Amino acid sequence: MKKIAVVYRSKSGFTTKYANWISKTIGGDLLHGKETKIEDLLGYDVIIYGGGIYAGGVNGLKLITGNYEKLKGKKLIVFGLGASPVRPEIYEEVKNRNLTKEQQERIAFFLLRGGFDNSKLTFVDKILMQGMKIYLKRKKEPTDDDRDMLNAYARPVDYTDKKYIEPIINEVINI
Ligand SMILES: Cc1cc2nc3c(=O)[nH]c(=O)nc-3n(C[C@H](O)[C@H](O)[C@H](O)COP(=O)(O)O)c2cc1C
Repeated sequence: MKKIAVVYRSKSGFTTKYANWISKTIGGDLLHGKETKIEDLLGYDVIIYGGGIYAGGVNGLKLITGNYEKLKGKKLIVFGLGASPVRPEIYEEVKNRNLTKEQQERIAFFLLRGGFDNSKLTFVDKILMQGMKIYLKRKKEPTDDDRDMLNAYARPVDYTDKKYIEPIINEVINI
């Protein structure tokens, strides 16, 4: 039996939902990324790391990428989730921003859709997102995605869906 860890960081609860679904489906240990040290992960065969995307970066991913050498020989899976829709070009952009070419050869990367809930953000994140709101409002030719994002400030959106974890589960099953 492979020992599986599902490690996650979540600021407003969207990644928490996916991490719970994944660990319940495959039976791995659920670990909170903030309280997890690299030593805690060395006894696992499979490490699944998930985090929200903040300004393009997967929250807390340094735990994995910064300790990449120590994790050699293990099956590594990373998922990031943002408020943006999941499209091939966005997937490529986020993957290249977060993993080097070498890491991409050994780490299976997935992009899932999260949501946006302004009321759950910290003061600092609220300020940052106010800046984004002003930028979106001033855009001369806003896209549908821009309009969806602007609407989400007034009314939280949750795009999470359990079916999106299927490729991650298959990745574990096919080891
Ligand atoms: C300051 C800030 C920056 C963000 N940057 C991005 C981004 O670059 N791309 C994206 O798709 N979503 C972005 N988001 C949205 C979050 O990734 C999204 O709300 C995600 O579901 C949060 O997951 P969590 O609650 O588990 O942390 C950002 C949100 C905040 C507050």
